[in-house]
Amino acid sequence: GVVGSSAAEPTGASPASSVPLPLDADFFQDPEAVYSVLREEGPVRKVVFPLGWGEAWIVTRYEEARAALADPRLLKNDRVAVAQYLDPEQIGEFRLGEDEGLLVHMLSSDPPDHTRLRNLVNKAFTSRRVEALRPRIEAITEQLLDDMAARGANGEPVDLIDVFAGPLPMTVICELLGVPPNDRDDFRSWCTVVVADDLTEDEERTASAAIAGYLRQLVAAKRAQPGEDLLTALVQARDDGDRLDETELIAMAFLLLLAGHETTVSLIGNGVLALLRNPDQLHRLRAEPSLIGGAVEEFLRYDGPLNLATTRFTSEPVRLGGVEIPRGQIVMVSLASANHDQRRFPDAGRLDVTRRSSGHLGFGHGIHYCVGAPLARLEGEIAFRRILDRFPELALAVDPSEVRWRQSFVFHALEHLPVRLS
Ligand code: HEM
Repeated sequence: GVVGSSAAEPTGASPASSVPLPLDADFFQDPEAVYSVLREEGPVRKVVFPLGWGEAWIVTRYEEARAALADPRLLKNDRVAVAQYLDPEQIGEFRLGEDEGLLVHMLSSDPPDHTRLRNLVNKAFTSRRVEALRPRIEAITEQLLDDMAARGANGEPVDLIDVFAGPLPMTVICELLGVPPNDRDDFRSWCTVVVADDLTEDEERTASAAIAGYLRQLVAAKRAQPGEDLLTALVQARDDGDRLDETELIAMAFLLLLAGHETTVSLIGNGVLALLRNPDQLHRLRAEPSLIGGAVEEFLRYDGPLNLATTRFTSEPVRLGGVEIPRGQIVMVSLASANHDQRRFPDAGRLDVTRRSSGHLGFGHGIHYCVGAPLARLEGEIAFRRILDRFPELALAVDPSEVRWRQSFVFHALEHLPVRLS
């Protein structure tokens, strides 16, 4: 089911004549090889997806990506898009929205629904509220690193994703929302299934039903026995007025849990890998830990957690970078590509922990800018500080060429990161 070859060659064709997007195994291992070619051809390009998923427009340059993310004519609500704009032929089997209502959340809503939903949780994620979580995040980090140290004693290789980068954000977001410890493994495994790209409709339904069923039961438990957690606060907001209906409540919990862990894993994993592949930068950061805050931004720019996500739909014709995108089209903004645009980030292919990376699009831009960014930044800052401090001899336990990336066009995530601690 793979269309195209991995070597993306300049086509010279007009941006509106679609080219096959080479989403084959090589693409996932090195998406930048494909993006760099598209980006130099032009800011916007129509592509055909493999697997019968239809066509979409990909935005690859920084300025145009930023403009697209802030453009109110580019909508997120796929239910509205399917009903009103999209041509069923064109979207092919691109699966949208059929999942027990789990997608009725802010990231697939437009104003005014988006504004209402986001306002319900905005306050929970301000820098000040998140800073209050610092001691708890530090304690979780220390405990996980103790465990990692024990497993990696005597030079045994350990999987940093499995024992640290995965569990840290999962534990933090579950504590914040009030998901009991015993349920977390189940939840994590359903999420792994539900975010996979190559699911059959049946598998997707089964996983969605398991998640929705679990969250409905959790909401009932919070109603019966309120806690101090964010989910209890949302249940009370739901019950106090008409600000949130039951489906939206479940979808909100799903989005926060999923977005809260699936991406932060890769901020840590991709960042550690980037440092191990660039010993001069690792050395620099160890020598000057005050650079860590800026380095986290550079990790998000250089090799961020998202690949080709951030799908939007044109509600009317939109001209972007001199290219006319008609109404009813799928537009994908590649944050990964935009963050490697030389026009905005000179020498973009180089990791530089002292670079001024602010303005990168790793957390998006505009009204959907990541609500969890302060939390992700804090987790990243603590994780890098403690890893560098505790493991001065940290090294890759495999040849760099053996490091595998997940085959996902949404997430840019490592499957495993085998390291040695001594
Ligand atoms: C939205 C990235 C961590 C919750 C987004 C978007 C991006 C992003 C790019 C916008 C997508 C778009 O415009 O289509 C990341 C990265 C993270 C991270 C790279 C980690 C390094 C988190 C965490 C949470 C979170 C820890 C915890 C709650 C959300 C939510 C939205 C969002 C709720 C939707 C916001 C809206 O629609 O207004 N994130 N995120 N994210 N993120 Fe994150």
